[in-house]
Amino acid sequence: DLAQYDVSEKTGFLPEEMPLESLGPYYEPWERLVRALPGLLLTKRIRAVVDALPLLSTVQLQTEAEFRRAHSVLGFLAHAYIWGVAEPTNRLPEQLAKPWIAVSEHLRLPPVATYADLCLWNFRYLLPDSDTDFLDNIQTISTFTGSFDESWFYLVSVYFEYKGASCLTTGLEAIKNAREGSSDRVVQCLQRLAEQIDYLGSVLMRMEEMCDPHVFYFRLRPYLAGWKNMKDAGLVNGVYYGNEAVPREYSGGSNAQSSLIQALDLLLNVEHRSTGEQAPSAGENPFMADMRRYMPGKHADFLAHLGKINILSDYVAKHAHENSELVLSYDACVAMLKCFRDKHIQIVTRYIVIQSQKARSMGSQTTSTLRAGLAKAKTPKKDIRGTGGTALLPFLKQCRDETGNAAAGNW
Ligand code: HEM
Ligand code: ALA
Repeated sequence: DLAQYDVSEKTGFLPEEMPLESLGPYYEPWERLVRALPGLLLTKRIRAVVDALPLLSTVQLQTEAEFRRAHSVLGFLAHAYIWGVAEPTNRLPEQLAKPWIAVSEHLRLPPVATYADLCLWNFRYLLPDSDTDFLDNIQTISTFTGSFDESWFYLVSVYFEYKGASCLTTGLEAIKNAREGSSDRVVQCLQRLAEQIDYLGSVLMRMEEMCDPHVFYFRLRPYLAGWKNMKDAGLVNGVYYGNEAVPREYSGGSNAQSSLIQALDLLLNVEHRSTGEQAPSAGENPFMADMRRYMPGKHADFLAHLGKINILSDYVAKHAHENSELVLSYDACVAMLKCFRDKHIQIVTRYIVIQSQKARSMGSQTTSTLRAGLAKAKTPKKDIRGTGGTALLPFLKQCRDETGNAAAGNW
């Protein structure tokens, strides 16, 4: 039963009921700051106003939707506080740290702005009653910058998850048919799945319609960074939460935290096939496993469950000699997932690699705060990092190559 994992046949890992737009009156001190966030960042007043916040209790939070909204609001405020002035600070005040840790425990998420906070739980309908394509009828609830580009960056991911719901249902149906031993129907499902994954690639490329690479890199991305592997951005060993004596290190928000992509990997046995076949240094991919801790607890549970019930590759291997279409359709899915990762590398090149070259060539002409943190000009090329803290292209290319290795032709 998908509902027990907070997964929906219609909306996948997005909540089936629209996210809560705002917490009740008790939490108004938080909500009013988030509403004013772009202005508070522009005028660099964010730290002063957060420092003046009262310490609110979390006992007033009741529904899941309220906990999610609280996690999201505190995520926006905390990342703005850490990165929102020229020099990052490594201490989060108690007024943010304490409630954030409590809410995080409830949701089984770390206290850092995750993909769930920025995307899964951060959209609403534009016109609830209008009958138009999903992406044309949603908007973001909160943003750091108030820009179209930022909203679009999140909304494309929301749409990706929405469209990905069909991949989940098709994948589960394929498993069911495999259990029943119906190869023809497994083939039909896999053919459909390949088309659905292909469509996800075209969703990804829509990023360029409304999210400008320069705006993304210089204005938005610095706020998305976490506090792990962020030495070059100015945070040496993480962030102190309130009065804690030891700093915490967390990866920043990244689509690597999307449960959908990891579900596809599981369905197609991507990581499993790669282990042992790669050079030992590249074999395991701990970042992807680690990202499961950054997914809402129930979604991570779903992935663990999917890993247990998935018999597709075994089925294809066992029945390949009876039905050659099995291998063809399985490999079409793998090829589409690999193609998705190729497109993603193109996007990363345009949105990060090329922009970071620009930052370096602009040299020290300006000292704009917009070029603090992850947009710093002096970061050498080999040291540029994803907001999740990975070494970017080497990591993404490994993910892509591991995908290719999952093809049945390689077994
Ligand atoms: C991982 C950049 C949009 C899916 C990553 C990573 C970077 C990155 C740098 C490496 C992890 C890290 O350290 O953060 C970007 C940029 C984007 C973008 C610049 C747009 C401007 C998207 C979108 C999706 C997506 C829209 C999904 C539709 C993924 C996935 C991973 C990832 C699944 C994990 C690695 C993998 O499975 O291959 N992204 N991303 N990204 N991104 Fe994106
Ligand atoms: N993970 C994306 C980046 O590194 C958002 O910019």
